[in-house]
Amino acid sequence: MKHAQPNYTVLSPSAMLNPVPVVLVSCADPKNPEKKNMITLAWAGTVNSEPPMVSISVRKERYSHDLIAESGEFVVNLVDEGMCRAVDYCGVRSGKDADKAAETGLTYMPAETMKIAPAVSGAPVSLSCKVRQMLELGSHDLFIGEVTGVMVRDDLLDGNGTLHLEKAKLVAYSHGLYQKLGGVMGFFGWSVARPEVLERRMNALCSD
Ligand SMILES: Cc1cc2nc3c(=O)[nH]c(=O)nc-3n(C[C@H](O)[C@H](O)[C@H](O)COP(=O)(O)O)c2cc1C
Repeated sequence: MKHAQPNYTVLSPSAMLNPVPVVLVSCADPKNPEKKNMITLAWAGTVNSEPPMVSISVRKERYSHDLIAESGEFVVNLVDEGMCRAVDYCGVRSGKDADKAAETGLTYMPAETMKIAPAVSGAPVSLSCKVRQMLELGSHDLFIGEVTGVMVRDDLLDGNGTLHLEKAKLVAYSHGLYQKLGGVMGFFGWSVARPEVLERRMNALCSD
């Protein structure tokens, strides 16, 4: 099949990788573990599977930066549509001057394997991470965290314990906009799946 050739305009270089996940990272102050905080991040990624590792990119001037660097812990909470407004708030106010939990109504809960970093209650999935490396890149410091605990909201698991993240109403971030994810287009390997497998899986995925 032939595709039409569009024209292109060259822009100045920028980290124009879109869409990205938007996540709410929770952390706590090792000098006063009762003092907890949440920071909204769009520069987060998966970087290794064995051991499982994710990265977050945080500017030094963020209040959360030193909490994460000094405690060696952070929790990556995935974001759903119901949390999205609170998540934006956590990305425009600093924990230096605000108690973001009190102001958004979000609440903390203990996170698997973490000494002090909490998880955010209601998040579809929370990944507890121990800092393994910090790289100073320029504007941002990249924290590489090993995922040592995963908590999943029970309503996203079926009777067999299979996770249905497609039901979580996750939110993506693309060029300054929070966006809902559209419907399912396919699944891993769908381009080469046998027709009967393709039909069965797609019917199941698109049934609600
Ligand atoms: C959608 C969104 C994405 C953001 N992504 C990042 C990011 O990847 N890295 C970062 O350092 N700040 C990011 N920010 C800005 C911080 O969330 C913001 O400065 C926040 O107020 C810092 O909170 P803190 O001072 O309590 O740590 C983002 C903000 C928004 C709204």
